[in-house]
Amino acid sequence: MCGVRMIGLKIGMDIGTGNVTAAIDGKGVVLCEPAVLALERETGEVIDAGKKAFEMTGRCPDAIKLTRPLLSGGVAELENSEKLIRTFLERICKNKIFKPVVAATMPAGITNLEKRNILDCILKAGAGKAVLIEEPLAAALGIGINPEMPYGTMIVNIGAGTTGVAVVTMGSIAVAKSATVGGDDMDRIIKTYLKNNRGIEVGRLTAEELKQLIGGAKVREETIAAVAKGKDTADGMPLFFEVTAQEINFAIRDCVDEICKAITDVLEVTPPELVKDITDSGIFLCGGMSKLYGIDKYIEEVTGIRVKIPGNESHVSALGCLRALNEENYLKQNGYHFVTLEILE
Ligand SMILES: Nc1ncnc2c1ncn2[C@@H]1O[C@H](COP(=O)(O)OP(=O)(O)OP(=O)(O)O)[C@@H](O)[C@H]1O
Ligand SMILES: [Mg+2]
Repeated sequence: MCGVRMIGLKIGMDIGTGNVTAAIDGKGVVLCEPAVLALERETGEVIDAGKKAFEMTGRCPDAIKLTRPLLSGGVAELENSEKLIRTFLERICKNKIFKPVVAATMPAGITNLEKRNILDCILKAGAGKAVLIEEPLAAALGIGINPEMPYGTMIVNIGAGTTGVAVVTMGSIAVAKSATVGGDDMDRIIKTYLKNNRGIEVGRLTAEELKQLIGGAKVREETIAAVAKGKDTADGMPLFFEVTAQEINFAIRDCVDEICKAITDVLEVTPPELVKDITDSGIFLCGGMSKLYGIDKYIEEVTGIRVKIPGNESHVSALGCLRALNEENYLKQNGYHFVTLEILE
């Protein structure tokens, strides 16, 4: 544990598979960028990170390597994760003298080794002290739960790589599950569907755009379709094609059901008093995938519980981490400890 006063900039950071979001005092969210790194292939030197690197997806010359090093909210490529987080910390801190204090998200239920790897990256990337908070708990703090109150709140955070489900009471997790299913799986499945059923090859970005534009967990009243560009798998020639919302919905249905299963699994093992609270106040849905058409209504049908999406659904986890840093004693009282590089090593 570290008893030093916090003198560095306090940063709440949501480290996701798809996006990194960071919030600081007085300014709120100051960074929300894709978790993509562009590297010089030979030397490993950083060319760019975030939005500009993301725009290179599928369009890179051979000399540039693109990577998303933060897999399912953890760190798949240690060294590259450190480079990515360092670039973002430098953007946030600019010329500040003191090292920042970072509270960052982690998926619920990860191993100690996985936790250690995330902390190692954040500290080597330039943080003076760091602490990790389960993503759905951070989201609960971000939507404004009262951490003192014995009252159950269910948070479902659907991101690119993971679906985190947690029931929170008195500022702590009562029951949680993290399933490795999210928006990335849907993008992959849309790609495979178009290849196998339509003989069309599309890039990852096109698949993601189709999901966001016309995909859904529920059928829309009106019939809609999108026109996209791809390649004919038979002759490799470029072509325009039309695809309907129905086809995309069909392709992603299993993923949507897997997400719902994670929610019902948690409800099944949640004590009755907490379930009563959840039924009274509804399930809170956040993360980028909460924008998928009809996902809230679909979860309502499956669980019979009202679903609410907060206005800032993609920012709540970073804001919750910042809140945890600012609320005196919250972290200590709930068993979260700051770690420095010296402690870790
Ligand atoms: N309008 C939209 N419709 C459908 N999906 C969307 C929309 N906007 C964003 N998404 C999806 O949300 C996902 C990113 O969400 P988010 O930023 O919460 O993930 P993350 O925090 O990076 O990942 P994780 O928490 O799983 O590690 C992507 O799969 C993206 O395609
Ligand atoms: Mg996330």
